[in-house]
Amino acid sequence: MISETMENAVNEQINKEMYSAYLYLSMSSYFESINLKGFANWMYVQYQEEVEHAMKFYEHLKNRGGKLKLFAINEPPSEWKSPLDVFQATLKHEQFITKSINELVDIAESEKDRAAYNMLQWFIDEQVEEEANDEEIIAQLEMVEESRNGLLMLDRELAKRGAAAD
Ligand code: FEO
Repeated sequence: MISETMENAVNEQINKEMYSAYLYLSMSSYFESINLKGFANWMYVQYQEEVEHAMKFYEHLKNRGGKLKLFAINEPPSEWKSPLDVFQATLKHEQFITKSINELVDIAESEKDRAAYNMLQWFIDEQVEEEANDEEIIAQLEMVEESRNGLLMLDRELAKRGAAAD
């Protein structure tokens, strides 16, 4: 049985993951609006992954006799200044999520909740990967700067990200 403190924290995390999904779907639509279909695809896959993250937390809650509480999802922004601006915002958001996952680990440790601790290890690894992906794309965007050719090449690269990729 999950503790009330962990149940609340997991419910809050589900809300953060669903907000992440909203944010990335909004970013995907922004990229569609500026005709960068590859970037839009990358963000759409990211949106799908965030829903999966929320569901992983829900499965954990369900399997441990916890009760789901769905909170209202905040409205994400819908406009950005540039692709670089989008990815800087993405990295900042993922750093916030990493902090939140770390706080969940702290609760699991203080409560000696080994089941939650185990489940959270997957998220620790996932956050390392997500931040690294964002940093890589930021570095590439900084390299191409205002070059339209460079941006189109990167767009073609990001178009390859498939739904099954992490
Ligand atoms: Fe669910 Fe992007 O972390």
